[in-house]
Amino acid sequence: MATAQSMMEVQKKTRADKQRSWFEDAIFYQIYPRSFNDTNGDGVGDLGGILEKVNYLKSLGITALWLSPFFPSPMEDFGYDVSGYCDVDPIFGTLEDFDRLIRTCHSSDIKMVIDFVPNHTSQHHPWFVESRKNKTNPYADWYIWADPKPDGSVPNNWTCVTTGSAWTYVKARHQYYLHSFLSAQPDLNWRNPEVREAIFKAMRFWFERGVDGLRVDMIDFLIKDEFLRDEPDPDYRFKTSVRHMNQPQMRDIVADMHALAREYGDRVIIGEINSELSVAQTVSYYGKPGNRQMDVPFNFVLMRQPLEAAAINATLREFEELLPDHAWPNHTWGNHDVPRVATRFGVEKARLAALILLTLRGTPFLYYGDELGMEDVKLTRDQIQDPWEFRQPGRGRDPNRTPLPWTAGARNAGFSSVDPWLPVGADNEARAVDTQLGNSASLHTFYRDLIALRQATPALLKGDQKLLEAPKDVVAYERNLEGERCIVIVNLGTTPISPGSLPFGIKGCMFSTAGPEPAKHVSRVLDAGHGGIFSA
Ligand code: GLC
Ligand code: CA
Repeated sequence: MATAQSMMEVQKKTRADKQRSWFEDAIFYQIYPRSFNDTNGDGVGDLGGILEKVNYLKSLGITALWLSPFFPSPMEDFGYDVSGYCDVDPIFGTLEDFDRLIRTCHSSDIKMVIDFVPNHTSQHHPWFVESRKNKTNPYADWYIWADPKPDGSVPNNWTCVTTGSAWTYVKARHQYYLHSFLSAQPDLNWRNPEVREAIFKAMRFWFERGVDGLRVDMIDFLIKDEFLRDEPDPDYRFKTSVRHMNQPQMRDIVADMHALAREYGDRVIIGEINSELSVAQTVSYYGKPGNRQMDVPFNFVLMRQPLEAAAINATLREFEELLPDHAWPNHTWGNHDVPRVATRFGVEKARLAALILLTLRGTPFLYYGDELGMEDVKLTRDQIQDPWEFRQPGRGRDPNRTPLPWTAGARNAGFSSVDPWLPVGADNEARAVDTQLGNSASLHTFYRDLIALRQATPALLKGDQKLLEAPKDVVAYERNLEGERCIVIVNLGTTPISPGSLPFGIKGCMFSTAGPEPAKHVSRVLDAGHGGIFSA
């Protein structure tokens, strides 16, 4: 007779034994190349700068990189406006530099995922330069063009990301083109098979160059309503859009991208889906076992939460409940589009956030500099670079894209020999890598040790997860695999918890936010603002 107990065991075994893909065991680290390390003294980070720091990444313990765009671009959205899909912008280096970087990463067992931006190109991409000339050129139908209304006004009520109409008029065609983002980023017409073929060719280019996966930008925008009908709610946000994005046909494109990646073996598609989507919408992008969509539909639900136990517990519960069986979770606290985690939660809480991210069931995505506790840098008006800030004050993303500080006291904290494109900021300079390396009390050391523990502990890396009933203001869960059990307890409240009051038993402390020797202070670990990993 199959008791509940034995069924649980069967289920565990299935999960443990199944063929896992590399990305499920990976720890990702996102690099915004402009801000990582400048090697040729122009104030902008470059591929050579990343190459120089592969040892740093290796010693931190991360196993996969995601590079934000480094393709030819007029930089009107700092690379998310691509003017050539199959090359490197000279500001970042050359294709040979890229080859060298990927070779070095691979020989250090670090996988390489790159950004890929298929929804729109730069307005200076040769396709658009042709397309805008007239209605008869070979690229005339490569973008989304529409006639003005009889009174000359825009074709419909769609808005772009920074508010305002998503349409811009071009006199030569007496038509408007659609741009879901800036007017410098015209949306491609994915209903045109030639566009699909050209983009798929570019994807192949990078897979053939050895990349292990693509992080596909704004994937849920690819297909729009065929008749360009108005959004019924004129104040729609992307979450509630029914015409502008999230159209069912887009799912076929995603499945084809996934199939294309698989032609090259164990290569993955990470999809950036809208950060406003609900948990149910997010997990739907995993697809079905026979009709896979993305390997990693970016899960932004944690990123939207405050660092509060009730919110986090509820989110994790909902996510795990809705997650299909074949899907492997992923989690992140942030990226190049949102304020930094240390700024949102306070630097003192950075360890707690890291402890959660790196012990949850699911692939963690770190953002460069979070391991140092980097905070957003306040900018003066003349330092602003991001056009979003000019269009919609408060939306700018410069503060969370500032240079990584390498050496305290060095010119520009060792990032560049000249003034960088964004300032380093005094607070971040004081957190430079050289001040933290080898310092047992530093956040960097905390990250490094926690990453090492995760990678060395199968229960943490790939085990099951059970959320535990815990006192108010506490996040607690069990990770287990084949008899190995770890319990993670994070006290986000303002009062200590006594181990005896917990409704589950804990044994020795394996790791803690309270100091380098966790075993010595099991109960201190349960103090307010602390957390740890316990054997059970
Ligand atoms: C994504 C990117 C963001 C960019 C936008 C347009 O959201 O993460 O940085 O501005 O797409 O490409
Ligand atoms: Ca440079």
